[in-house]
Amino acid sequence: MSVPPVPTEESVFTWGAPPLKFGAGACDEIGFDLSQYGAQRILLITDPGMQQTGLPDRIADQIRRYDMTVEIFDGVHVEPTDDSMNKAVGYATEQGPWDGFVAVGGGSAIDTAKAVNLLTTYPGDLMDYINKPVGKAQVPPGQLKPLIAVPTTAGTGSESTAMCILDVLSLRVKTGISHWRLRPTMAVVDPLLTMTLPPEVTASAGMDIVCHALESYTARWYTSFDRKKPEERVTYCGSNPVSDLWCEKSMTLLARSFRTAVERGEEDVDARMDMMMAATFAGMGFGNSGVHIPHANAYPIAGQVRDFRPAGYPQDEPMVPHGMSVSLTAPEAFRFSFSSAPDRHMTAARLLGPDAEKQNDASEQLPHVVTELMRDIHIPNGIGEVGFGEDDIGDLVDGTMKQQRLLATCPRMPTEDDIADIFRKSIQNW
Ligand SMILES: NC(=O)c1ccc[n+]([C@@H]2O[C@H](COP(=O)([O-])OP(=O)(O)OC[C@H]3O[C@@H](n4cnc5c(N)ncnc54)[C@H](O)[C@@H]3O)[C@@H](O)[C@H]2O)c1
Repeated sequence: MSVPPVPTEESVFTWGAPPLKFGAGACDEIGFDLSQYGAQRILLITDPGMQQTGLPDRIADQIRRYDMTVEIFDGVHVEPTDDSMNKAVGYATEQGPWDGFVAVGGGSAIDTAKAVNLLTTYPGDLMDYINKPVGKAQVPPGQLKPLIAVPTTAGTGSESTAMCILDVLSLRVKTGISHWRLRPTMAVVDPLLTMTLPPEVTASAGMDIVCHALESYTARWYTSFDRKKPEERVTYCGSNPVSDLWCEKSMTLLARSFRTAVERGEEDVDARMDMMMAATFAGMGFGNSGVHIPHANAYPIAGQVRDFRPAGYPQDEPMVPHGMSVSLTAPEAFRFSFSSAPDRHMTAARLLGPDAEKQNDASEQLPHVVTELMRDIHIPNGIGEVGFGEDDIGDLVDGTMKQQRLLATCPRMPTEDDIADIFRKSIQNW
């Protein structure tokens, strides 16, 4: 029998993740882990709020026991910008060279460390690597230094993804760098580190997990894309059998423990354990398959904020935290995408909310489950509550339409009018 010809449509998906060390106390073994890479001079990268918890010092002391020198950079901006990343790169370049990096914090610290690793290993400009059309989307020329990512929020999954997200202040646009070489060398995930998370950060970061899992699970199937050459393969290849597995499990964990983690997170270790595992699992899913409309809408919502200052976050400037901004249009986005893959939307609704099937209208099951969850954990009721109204919709739509990389993963391609309709109906979600 002869080998069948290669099909013209895409028939290959890729899946990648770093080695993972997971569990209570995992963060106290980083010295040993780093010593396996032969590193001597380490830069630990964190944000000021994390530095105050004392955790970065504890990790640095532990690494020093393995005869390495460690310095701490605690200037990460919560939700990084091109300015803040350039400052971090400037510090690291002046004080370097470094053999390795450790990121301690949420997505903000981990993404900043990815940029520092890239631009100290291959000096250049952030814009050289940022995705098109904002930047030049150059490919990192070679291997980066070892980077151990230690997440302290249960949310972004950045410890296992190949993405680095930032605000480009001059253009008021949130975008990123995405290439597999940015993926951390190792993810050290210690759920105990999240016991100190304020309930508001638990809620917002947790909605990021929910949307990662749901958007990945409802993303276009990988074979529906045009066939790519190996050098053209993108980080997000569409939903696929491996990403699906991680996302399904993530939804089950979220259903069991999200509300408890928000209500009793300072004492309930099991809930924190579930949430951290849900974040890691969703990261391993969406980090390969992709996200779509809720994330594309989140970028202008966060980038065009005027004066919303959420409790639990630094109060020095207005912000809509990432997970919150992603969730605000999610119920309406899933109403829109339902017709493209009804079974997937219904399965997701069942996994995330056991009472989903009480909704007779199948297209309402997922929006209902997501909305109930948002209400219970005190996410603002729509983009109206974070300061946007009917008059802002044109600018928000413009911002979303710039996120073609994300919209391309949507199983039903939205027009500008569709996105405007989603924003309009998300001014108030319940
Ligand atoms: N690279 C990716 O794949 C990816 C994916 C999703 C989001 N992101 C990005 O990640 C960023 C958001 O990250 P995040 O939601 O993890 O939050 P964050 O890193 O912005 O941190 C939020 C706040 O929580 C505090 N904090 C963090 N851990 C704590 C702890 N254990 N105890 C007490 N306080 C703690 C921080 O000091 C900060 O004030 C955004 O910039 C977003 O765009 C990246």
